[in-house]
Amino acid sequence: MQDYSALRDAIRDVVDFPKEGIIFKDIMPMLAQPELLKLSVQAFCETAAGQKIDKVVGIDARGFIFGSAVAMELGAGFVPIRKKGKLPWMTNAISYSLEYGEATVEIHQDSIKPGERVLIVDDLLATGGTAAAAVSLVQSLDADLVGISFLIELEFLNGRQLLPTKNIHSIIQY
Ligand code: PRP
Ligand code: MG
Repeated sequence: MQDYSALRDAIRDVVDFPKEGIIFKDIMPMLAQPELLKLSVQAFCETAAGQKIDKVVGIDARGFIFGSAVAMELGAGFVPIRKKGKLPWMTNAISYSLEYGEATVEIHQDSIKPGERVLIVDDLLATGGTAAAAVSLVQSLDADLVGISFLIELEFLNGRQLLPTKNIHSIIQY
């Protein structure tokens, strides 16, 4: 197992963002360092080691930062899951609960063919609502979900419990 402490060290805690009582994990200082950006993408790819991946699905917005780089490394295509109203073609949509209110995310209906092998990536697993919605969208296209991988997992929120697969990886845990 590689040592990813350099990634952890470059993630900044921002107190009371976006609101009081929240300690935000800010990955921007990590992304800005070329060697750490590369290391993080390599770490994502480890999740899929030895497995053929047809499509990497990245979640709007921070999942895009890693998703297309990971797709290129794995020789896969990239598919975005976007927040409602951003995708121009025919979509499948799903709504899910946030702490306050609801969110809707969408995927293009022709972005994944039935049986294609998919890896979902995002920067952060918190409550799991976003990733669970992404799984539902991928399943709505009859894809073969190989795994889900995150840079950061907030373990105390138990987000994994919402995800219907055992193949869940995170690079850094808090
Ligand atoms: C953040 C984060 C994950 C999600 C995790 O996205 O990037 O996608 O929340 O939270 P959950 O596990 O509780 O669902 P957000 O939409 O807030 O911001 P972004 O558009 O910058 O990715
Ligand atoms: Mg996000």
